[in-house]
Amino acid sequence: MLILGIESSCDETGVGVYDTGRGLLAHRVHSQIALHAEYGGVVPELASRDHVRRIVPLVREALAASGHEAADLHGVGYTAGPGLAGALLVGAAFAEAFAFGLGIPALPVHHLEGHLLSPLLSRDPPRFPFIALLVSGGHTQLMRVTGVGAYELLGETVDDAAGEAFDKTAKLLGLDYPGGPALAALAAEGTAGRFKLPRPMLHSGDLNFSFSGLKTAVLTATRAPEWQAERRADLAAEFQEAVTEVLVAKSIAAMKSAGVNTLVVAGGVGANRRLRQRLNESAARRKFRVHYPELEFCSDNGAMIALAAALRFEQGAKGSREGRFAVRPRW
Ligand code: KG4
Ligand code: ZN
Repeated sequence: MLILGIESSCDETGVGVYDTGRGLLAHRVHSQIALHAEYGGVVPELASRDHVRRIVPLVREALAASGHEAADLHGVGYTAGPGLAGALLVGAAFAEAFAFGLGIPALPVHHLEGHLLSPLLSRDPPRFPFIALLVSGGHTQLMRVTGVGAYELLGETVDDAAGEAFDKTAKLLGLDYPGGPALAALAAEGTAGRFKLPRPMLHSGDLNFSFSGLKTAVLTATRAPEWQAERRADLAAEFQEAVTEVLVAKSIAAMKSAGVNTLVVAGGVGANRRLRQRLNESAARRKFRVHYPELEFCSDNGAMIALAAALRFEQGAKGSREGRFAVRPRW
């Protein structure tokens, strides 16, 4: 089965072509970072308009790179939520119309299912069951994954997502959008421990997270009389250390409680070097396996949506053939 995947939930237009026999054949991503940079965050209306401009050329490119034509496709999967309503509508409308025109089914995909399954795109994919740590700009969740579509939520953030905390803290420190990578780069120049930030909910006894207090603690530190702008890197390093320490500890606790020794890390924050380093150290010490999606599949992309749709179609999902659709921004 040859499946086209479309992602347009936020500020990346992504297109993937996945073959259930041969794997990922091609994918293309257009990031709107430059477009939103001067506003310090994603402007939904601008995002939607840019998806409209990019989507058809990207589909043409990805299909050409896959060595196939539209007529070879068996189905189209698209992100139906969660995300920005207008942005989602562009991908959904395109996917449904395209599928309708080709007489093939279109399947709505949950954006997080795409992230969750994205490690399966790697050369050395994890085997079920695994614990997934989903850390993106919108979500922070621990899930027990026993198969495609078999996901059990074990814990999640009670306030900000990890990526959101990175982004907001970066803004507090005067860094440019997108804040996560900028804060991580600044942290690499500093030393953790010179400031003391809390490790929120580290000992809460459950698998939930809370990150909004950390952002406030950073704000408080920058307002103290002894604050000096030169100490930004140390503060960034301590912030990153606090977030990663909690993420690592709860991931290990989740594996223990579920009796699973494979961890999969997905979502944009999964690109964070320090997080990876600490997880790898723990994995070596505690004898568990940790999988990361390739960096290009950590942030939003169409390949993971094509993959998720392909696995769902293989499981017997029918999709729709009527070109009717609804997006679910808060799915
Ligand atoms: O999964 P993603 O691309 O989009 C969704 O939110 O669905 O995740 C984006 C998030 C942003 O908050 C971004 O700041 C964060 O991932 N991020 C990072 C890093 N790279 C991206 N956070 C920390 N360190 C990084 N290296
Ligand atoms: Zn995402």
